[in-house]
Amino acid sequence: MKKSFYVSIILCLCLITAAFTVGCGNDSTSKADTSTEAATVDDAKTDGIDYMALVNKTHALPEDWEKNIETIKFTNTVGDDVEVEKKAYDAYLELKAALEAEGVTVDLDSARRSVADQQRIMDEFTKEKGADYAAKTVAKPGYSEHHTGLALDLYLIVDGKDITENEDMEQYPEIWEKIHAKLADYGFILRYLEGREHITGYGYEPWHIRYIDNIDVAKEIMSKDITFEEYLGTYSGPQVTVDYGTSELYTKEELEAAVIQIKCKFAFWDGCELNSIRYAGDDAVSEKKLAELNKKDPKTNYSRAAKFLMDFHTGENKGETTFETNHEYKDYQWYLAVNDEGGWDIVDFGY
Ligand code: DAL
Ligand code: ZN
Repeated sequence: MKKSFYVSIILCLCLITAAFTVGCGNDSTSKADTSTEAATVDDAKTDGIDYMALVNKTHALPEDWEKNIETIKFTNTVGDDVEVEKKAYDAYLELKAALEAEGVTVDLDSARRSVADQQRIMDEFTKEKGADYAAKTVAKPGYSEHHTGLALDLYLIVDGKDITENEDMEQYPEIWEKIHAKLADYGFILRYLEGREHITGYGYEPWHIRYIDNIDVAKEIMSKDITFEEYLGTYSGPQVTVDYGTSELYTKEELEAAVIQIKCKFAFWDGCELNSIRYAGDDAVSEKKLAELNKKDPKTNYSRAAKFLMDFHTGENKGETTFETNHEYKDYQWYLAVNDEGGWDIVDFGY
């Protein structure tokens, strides 16, 4: 999460009264300055929390979570106060030390957030970047994994410099790779995977890790490269018919990868429901069309492209899309080209 938003949260918290502490719990604990501090646990604490709890777009924070969570508060290198579930914090410190031994330095940008914190972040993102961007980046208040205290947003410290902005952090894929390789050893998983936006409902977030307190399960999830939803079996996905047809140009795996790309993009089209996707065939992209696709970006020189056709419908809420509401769209076209890394780029879509 961007530092500027988090700073604004802190400022708000300083200025605004208890009315804004909905869901915060543990507020009787004063903020730590330089060291960590255990937060007060509610007197009604019962049996602790379920470290495997699923919180996502359709699963809200479990009831009574606030009563059962024990947290730590500390101040990070950029001076923000961060609150983390206690066991997750201990595991994070071990992960951090292991990374430091490999020359990678991280700190925590944001961990536990109240419902009110999340609302403020949502409002800021919506105002500054639009509702569509906010929907794929920020969870609805009450449905953020950050409410659990088990979701941690890391930031990088590179050559002594704090790298906290999302766009800047994305410039260090090799550092994230080292970090991700170590997560499972300490009971963490990566939550928002690249190419699984259609399952998680969020874009790729290399910095957002989730503590599940089970190293074996974490290792299974990370080694299979699957989402938490897939591991828990809660993702059934929309009932989409996919017809790969026959192809002598592409393998089934290549066509599947292309369809995942399309689904990921489609996942963010507000109120739209996917019915079917079909490969348009090996002859569907002419030389002329390929030249047209290459003209869209002077830097590209694609030699292979594929066309897919999609049927979908829109509902009442069309968000920021330009589609008609309650409408069936047939044979909507998608053009994808094979990039230098052998992956697919969505180059064009529409009628
Ligand atoms: N960025 C994640 C999805 C959240 O807001 O919880
Ligand atoms: Zn996060």
